[in-house]
Amino acid sequence: MSNLSFDWENILVDTADLHEGIVTITLNRPKVLNALNTQTLKEIVLTLKELQRRDDTRVVILTGNEKAFAAGADIAQMLAATPADQIKDEREGLWKEFTLFPLPIIAAVNGFCLGGGHELAMACDTIIAGDNALMGQPEVNLGITPGAGGTQRFTRTIGKARASYYALTGEMFSAHEALEMGLVAKVVPSRTTLAEARECAKKMAKKSPMALRLIKESIQASFNTSLDEGLKLERRNFYLTFSMEDQKEGMRAFLEKRSPNYTGS
Ligand code: CAA
Repeated sequence: MSNLSFDWENILVDTADLHEGIVTITLNRPKVLNALNTQTLKEIVLTLKELQRRDDTRVVILTGNEKAFAAGADIAQMLAATPADQIKDEREGLWKEFTLFPLPIIAAVNGFCLGGGHELAMACDTIIAGDNALMGQPEVNLGITPGAGGTQRFTRTIGKARASYYALTGEMFSAHEALEMGLVAKVVPSRTTLAEARECAKKMAKKSPMALRLIKESIQASFNTSLDEGLKLERRNFYLTFSMEDQKEGMRAFLEKRSPNYTGS
């Protein structure tokens, strides 16, 4: 495949591990704790679209820095906005496009992960949190409501009582509380968060890319469909894997007691 390089204003894209199928996107607006303005979301989505066009990407890691994953939407950008500005802003489409990326995205979260930043992490497939992470939906402190999943994905993940508690008080919660609520998959020492995310990405990247896609699709559907519909999709995806060489390879490798070599076909 051709070389991949990006020259963005607000994010860094590290393709050094692309030979292993892994790309790391780092939010890079440290002066404002990685506040998510429209341009940042756009850069993330355009990067994902480019990665989707190639067949060498298996897993994406999305991360910030030690102090912040992202402290929310950019308050300076929103201050003077009118409802019409918000409706016309391309953010809604960008959020949608983010969720359409078909392969796993791991959020590696250290520090503040608030508002839109928390919503972005929840829109990823899994979250690995450093023990210094502070998460929450503080929009209520600003006289607004969450607008990108902070009442929906949040409630479906941790339940009504706790989502309401945090969204209505604006109180932050720790990485360990997030783990206990099922919002994050793992809590690790903050200096190892990215390394842990890489280990997790490496495990995923060795699997059949088609299986990764179909599992992601089925899990995402569980947020949108009835149990019956979800089970139907799950079963169809299960059947679909039997049309693929990767299924034969995976089962053959198991029986031959060797590691599988998946090609995504
Ligand atoms: N937008 C714009 N700028 C932000 C920001 C944000 N969300 N969060 C922090 N910053 C800026 C601060 O204004 C400050 O800039 P200056 O140095 O120019 O003053 C800089 O980042 C550092 O921030 P603090 O000095 O406040 O750092 P702190 O360590 O004292 O506090 C914090 C950290 C508790 C996270 C605090 O910055 C804070 O409360 N930030 C706002 C969090 C928030 O309300 N997020 C929700 C935004 S709304 C939203 O997200 C809606 C949506 O998606 C739909």
